[in-house]
Amino acid sequence: LWLALGIRRRQPGEPAVENGYIPYLGCALQFGANPLQFLLSRQKKHGHIFTCKIAGQFIHFLCDPFSYHSVIRQGRHLDWKKFHFATSVKAFGHDSFDPRHGYTTENLHQTFLKTLQGEALPSLIEAMMGHLQDVMLKSDALSPSKDHWQVDGIFAFCYKVMFESGYLTLFGKELGDDKSQAHQAAQKALVLNTLENFKEFDKIFPALVAGLPIHVFHSAYSARENLARTMHVENLSKRHNMSDLISMRMILNDSLSTFNDVSKSRTHVALLWASQANTLPATFWSLFYMIRSPDAMKAAQKEVQKVLREAGQTVDPSDPALNLTRDQLDNMPVMDSIIKEAMRLSSASMNVRVAKEDFLLHLDNQEAYHIRKDDVIALYPPLLHYDPDIYEDPYEYKFDRFLDEKGQEKTTFHCNGRRLRYFYMPFGSGVTKCPGRFFAICEIKQFLTLMLSYFDMELLDPAIRVPPLDQSRAGLGILQPTYDVDFRYKLKETH
Ligand code: HEM
Repeated sequence: LWLALGIRRRQPGEPAVENGYIPYLGCALQFGANPLQFLLSRQKKHGHIFTCKIAGQFIHFLCDPFSYHSVIRQGRHLDWKKFHFATSVKAFGHDSFDPRHGYTTENLHQTFLKTLQGEALPSLIEAMMGHLQDVMLKSDALSPSKDHWQVDGIFAFCYKVMFESGYLTLFGKELGDDKSQAHQAAQKALVLNTLENFKEFDKIFPALVAGLPIHVFHSAYSARENLARTMHVENLSKRHNMSDLISMRMILNDSLSTFNDVSKSRTHVALLWASQANTLPATFWSLFYMIRSPDAMKAAQKEVQKVLREAGQTVDPSDPALNLTRDQLDNMPVMDSIIKEAMRLSSASMNVRVAKEDFLLHLDNQEAYHIRKDDVIALYPPLLHYDPDIYEDPYEYKFDRFLDEKGQEKTTFHCNGRRLRYFYMPFGSGVTKCPGRFFAICEIKQFLTLMLSYFDMELLDPAIRVPPLDQSRAGLGILQPTYDVDFRYKLKETH
């Protein structure tokens, strides 16, 4: 009967099991309603590790940050590829990237590292800065004025500006006469269409990861296929100034895989999603919390002015050509802390590994637990990010939380008097850590720097409450706000 109901009985040496009340779904509903509260209550009851059945899968939640290392170091018992590759196939519909399945021999991980980090960064940064200023000041997307305030939702504003700039940075621009109004209008329409399709598809992303087939969602399915069509090789080959990431992936799709053209385009949709889905809400939270905190605004303003002065750059909205190098962007600790703190409060990415075989998982306190083959082990970083023993007043936004006494990056955090190795994990961990993280931080910093340089901004309601996090995406990255918050902006008077 236990087997028929899919219920697991705890064996000696295994973590405590929560089967939940509902066959198959297990604890899914309680988890989904508020994952952090659910995990905290189970942690209180069971301690450092326990097992939950969620949608047919047994997941061991490891809650002791001092034991994270035993999962994050890539031990021989744990597999990361299985879950990641399978999730991508479920969501985007391309053939598998797992070389074991025989469709490609590309080492995707290496491609990402080569094209998103190190020597690849300066050209991404330069392209992004140009596109951001074009969208903010040259196109008619915002039409800011010196004379009157424009009102918009912060979330809507961030989507408009960051999506277009990030999209053009990765996928380049369509060849054509840049001075022709008809060409410009067609390009604008293409970007807006892509954004609408992206939003429609992104809405059902959690359902796809949970295993529902995309055909159930008609409009999201056509949105995904519309995106794939714009990324068909015929269309991509009409574009120039494409990033190394996309151009290298096109070459490797052609040379190392047996993917057909549709599958190839869908791999590009996956990258569009990875590059935007977290960046957009992270930009929202960073801008929202910065505007809401007068001290943060003041400190950021001062830092931006200093960086621009030292770089010999002048702010001129009629000729928006600010440019900062990677080193200059790296040297903005206040901005770093503003962004980090915004992501601490909004990130909910689950770190997942699958057991390749039965094995013993050793915890920091010398305990060891039996893990069964194919079980999932998960780390849920919000447990760290909201731990009052690590972060005082964890629900409060403190823009300088990640600054030390000298105003530089703070890297030492403690729990119960012991220094922590892992205290901040919005980008995942170990081998699956986001390869785009350096670019992501740079682009948010560029966005905030330009906003502060060109615009005066304020909340319509300075006392507005922080919008609650939309928990429907818990586990998948940076959470969105449940509703937008209005602000107003106008061009700064320049002297
Ligand atoms: C994967 C977070 C921005 C490219 C991931 C993962 C997380 C993450 C949590 C999965 C790690 C795991 O599965 O354990 C974020 C956040 C971002 C961001 C919070 C922004 C604030 C970006 C950007 C790009 C990017 C801008 C590219 C331009 C990728 C790629 C992967 C990934 C390609 C898949 C890596 C793999 O499977 O090997 N990201 N990301 N991300 N991210 Fe990001």
